[in-house]
Amino acid sequence: MNTYQEDTYGDRIAGVYDAWYAEYDDATLVTLRELAQGGRALELGIGTGRIALPLQQSGVIVDGIDASAAMIAKLHSKSGGDKISVVLGNFADVAVAGEYTLIYVLFNTFFSLLTQEEQLRCFRNVAQHLGPQGSFVVEAFAPDLSRFSDHQAVRAVRISENEVRLDASQLDPVNQQITSQHVVLTEQGIRLYPVKLRYVWPAELDLMARLAGLQLKYRWGNWRKAAFTADSGKHVSVYEHAE
Ligand SMILES: C[S@@+](CC[C@H](N)C(=O)[O-])C[C@H]1O[C@@H](n2cnc3c(N)ncnc32)[C@H](O)[C@@H]1O
Repeated sequence: MNTYQEDTYGDRIAGVYDAWYAEYDDATLVTLRELAQGGRALELGIGTGRIALPLQQSGVIVDGIDASAAMIAKLHSKSGGDKISVVLGNFADVAVAGEYTLIYVLFNTFFSLLTQEEQLRCFRNVAQHLGPQGSFVVEAFAPDLSRFSDHQAVRAVRISENEVRLDASQLDPVNQQITSQHVVLTEQGIRLYPVKLRYVWPAELDLMARLAGLQLKYRWGNWRKAAFTADSGKHVSVYEHAE
């Protein structure tokens, strides 16, 4: 039985998320603050506030949307977290009031919408809430299917004396989906952290943006605005209203 839903990833990983993914490039905050132009920001899939909290502390008013009550509870338990207003729900709906000068979705989270229809719906709803000079920012990996062999990949993420962390993934190239488990093996037992994605290449993102009345303004290979090239593992794409 497939019970994976929009809150599954967050609810299962909330307890270890901050320990696993604390790091970020400071340039993330600099670039997001610049794109906010002194206005309000909305993070889709805000999670535990890894970026939203320091961004808010740097002077940008940040709201969020997340499907996982466990992730939101982590955010609200942190110092300053109670100042960030978060709507519980599917970010494809963008069920918030008003307009934002910056709407952003980080760390491949856009790919957690599992169909093209859902992803396009998200773009269309973002366009409804983006101010006239606003920016919609998507940070995501550039798909590299060469890491799969026979539509599968297994990677040892971390091996220490007391713990082994593995990522096991299966690729469905027809639906552009990757189904994975982060597997943690210890002497106490096995923990599973499931994640499902629908990956898209930048060109498909740009087309969805155009269908939603947006257009690509910038595409960088990182938050320091390096050029996006064939060797870029990820991209930071900035969309604006089409002229
Ligand atoms: C990889 S985490 C990223 C969290 C945060 N943006 C960061 O950069 O650390 C993805 C987050 O998106 C949330 N999420 C996944 N699918 C969602 C959906 N359809 N609607 C709302 N939130 C979703 C998860 O609950 C989780 O908190």
